[in-house]
Amino acid sequence: MQVTQASSKILQGELVVFPTETVYGIGALMSNAAAVQKIFDVKGRPSKNPLIVHIADFEQLDELVRGVSPSAKKLMKAFWPGPLTICFQKSKNVPDIVTAGLPTVCVRMPDHELARQLLREVGEPIAAPSANLSGRPSTTTFEDAKRQLAQKGVHFLDGGSTPLGIESTVVDCSGEIVRLLRPGAISQMQIEEVLGESLLDESTGEKISSPGQLLEHYAPQGHLTVLFGPRQQRREWMSQHGDEAALGYVGSLPEGSSHIRTYQLCEDENDVETYAARLYECLNWCDLINAKNIVLELPSREHPLLPALINRLEKASRGEIVHLH
Ligand code: TXA
Ligand code: MG
Repeated sequence: MQVTQASSKILQGELVVFPTETVYGIGALMSNAAAVQKIFDVKGRPSKNPLIVHIADFEQLDELVRGVSPSAKKLMKAFWPGPLTICFQKSKNVPDIVTAGLPTVCVRMPDHELARQLLREVGEPIAAPSANLSGRPSTTTFEDAKRQLAQKGVHFLDGGSTPLGIESTVVDCSGEIVRLLRPGAISQMQIEEVLGESLLDESTGEKISSPGQLLEHYAPQGHLTVLFGPRQQRREWMSQHGDEAALGYVGSLPEGSSHIRTYQLCEDENDVETYAARLYECLNWCDLINAKNIVLELPSREHPLLPALINRLEKASRGEIVHLH
């Protein structure tokens, strides 16, 4: 499907799966509550989990929010268009279904040519969560998005692989203090540098402010174990356990590996960007080959993307990250 066709589908109240720089999204015209309801139906998404509103330009923001704090202004200037989602007090123009009844709305301006063309042609904001069934891995390729959402009566824009492969960072600028709601493609440190102050991290621990963070998420169908720690310890663990599991590995294949089905996440142990870009493709591959048991290596190198990867993999493995020392 071409962008022009996709934009008329959106304007008619239909759903379109489209690429962004992070992951594929499934979008509906934000102002059309019935269309937005279809997103929840198609994904099987709990109605209490609000959606991100995507915009083409800064003018579109004014209609959506009740005000823009100085911190939000700094962040928009530094990171938009790009993988940063900002939470504001919402205006009455945002239907309640989009925000799951919350008084706030999360907005982002994607940095992806096809997404931007689509948003420009539609000429109005698009509400879009990640293009996957609720609870399942996000999708970073056209094929994976199609596989998860086939026969749902939605339309697809093919943008190949999405470059970053991990969702946007979500920060709350709706109150006095800026809070991190979900770690993502832009690191906490990058944000703190721009703000000149530290962020309150509410993405972990007791007080989770983003409804989506509470739910089971990103999980493949099989049982997933994640190995986190130095390479040698990971390989020792593998030689003792994990036979016959599908293996997502880093660097070279483990010696004497009995794993028949393997997926290389990155060639170089230090290449965490590539790891992030391939992670969801790997998890979707596990489902494609119907893997019952999955072992995934996670490089332990200090890296700004690591908190986001650990956040996703903790949920995907239902807490089964093995910390090796
Ligand atoms: O990179 C991305 O952000 C992708 C692409 C498609 O833009 N979208 C995405 O959407 O990851 P989704 O729906 O999978 O995740 C949105 C997260 C959820 O955890 C949701 O709870 C949170 O943002 N969220 C949305 N609106 C919120 C609000 N008003 N207050 C707090 N959290 C909110
Ligand atoms: Mg999602």
